Amino acid sequence: MAEFTLPANSKVGTGKTVRAPAGAKRLKSFKVYRWNPDDGQNPRLDTFEIDRDTCGPMVLDALIKIKNELDSTLTFRRSCREGVCGSCAMNIDGTNTLACLKFIDEVKGDVRVYPLPHMAVVKDLVPDLTHVTAQYHSIKPWLEAESAAPDRERLQSVAEREKLDGLWECILCFCCTTSCPSYWWNSDRYLGPAILLQAYRWIADSRDEKTGDRLDQLEDPFRLYRCHTIMNCTKTCPKNLNPAKAIGEIKKLLVARR
Ligand code: SF4
Ligand code: SF4
Ligand code: FES
Repeated sequence: MAEFTLPANSKVGTGKTVRAPAGAKRLKSFKVYRWNPDDGQNPRLDTFEIDRDTCGPMVLDALIKIKNELDSTLTFRRSCREGVCGSCAMNIDGTNTLACLKFIDEVKGDVRVYPLPHMAVVKDLVPDLTHVTAQYHSIKPWLEAESAAPDRERLQSVAEREKLDGLWECILCFCCTTSCPSYWWNSDRYLGPAILLQAYRWIADSRDEKTGDRLDQLEDPFRLYRCHTIMNCTKTCPKNLNPAKAIGEIKKLLVARR
């Protein structure tokens, strides 16, 4: 069997341990990935002991507590703290999810926190989203219409609007994309589940008049057809969406127009 090892400068070492204050009763340990591009050191796992009696219920609460009270250099993204901005996506206990929606109680034993996998890391828990954001831009995520603008909104029937349910709720957290093995190996050309779900969101919109062009753009062995229906994306989506189904709908439309 082939064996793979990380390059020497990527191996994750053991970092510092910060103990909870004496007298703390409900202890939980957080093992947090740290990497600073400016210090020339390998990544490391720091351990922070948290007193649950002085911490909120979510993993994000613990990270904020660590940053505020134990180590202000810990770097992560967050904004809404209620699952709508997508900023706090990270790998917790082996699964990509949103730190603000993940209950600490759901994790047995130590809470292991890493950045989203298979993305370059900017610092600590912050992935570099430059490439995936450019991919998002490439699908023109806005309404494209050639007909003259009406005096008021472009209307939809209730049935037309319902076709967007399960799509508009996507918050572009990229938990799905970074859980997709096809994306890991082909991210240079494969768009991945988040972007393809977004592409379908505009294809499915009755007000959009560029469906043909959108399908032309996706009819490509890499951009779309690197999806092999492995379904990791749907399993991991913290908003309970189904990007694999959206990808399947695009494939069906491509077959139907032949
Ligand atoms: S279903 Fe497609 S997009 Fe989803 S994880 Fe599998 S290969 Fe990736
Ligand atoms: S489909 Fe789900 S996991 Fe993927 S980006 Fe949207 S909200 Fe995040
Ligand atoms: S902080 Fe906005 S989704 Fe978690």
